[in-house]
Amino acid sequence: MSTTFSADELQEVARLKGLYPEPKAAIMPVLWMAQKKWGWLSEEVLRYVGDVMELPYAHVMGVATFYTMYFKKPMGKHHVQVCTNVSCMLRGGDKIFDHVKSKLGIGHNEATVDGKFSLEEVECMGACGGAPMIAINETFYENTSIEAVDALLTKV
Ligand code: FES
Repeated sequence: MSTTFSADELQEVARLKGLYPEPKAAIMPVLWMAQKKWGWLSEEVLRYVGDVMELPYAHVMGVATFYTMYFKKPMGKHHVQVCTNVSCMLRGGDKIFDHVKSKLGIGHNEATVDGKFSLEEVECMGACGGAPMIAINETFYENTSIEAVDALLTKV
């Protein structure tokens, strides 16, 4: 797959740049677009984003490495994030994380061999009221349990 955005995607990049007084502020949504398109942010993709954003590679790399939501290696099609921070841990989040870990046979920030799942132990995702919570890609599942997570993983 060639590392270029389509004409429509480039139009979206231009729109995003226009939303900010400084076009470089659009780097985060553009990196997100790139991750959605290519699945993760390889050096080649980061360099391309730098070209599109007219920003140095070091700047793009700095943003991509600062935020954990940007993948710097291939992850699974279904990225499972399990919160083990205080509220979730008190309601069994750590047990859910251990369960998913052994069920998928992978650890934190690892992907299954078939590329279907990856797992990440995360800090508070701001959904403490629904603890324990997990997210699969961008969908949050709150007040969850080992059984409910098992059902979700079978369904996706
Ligand atoms: S502690 Fe898990 S969402 Fe806040």
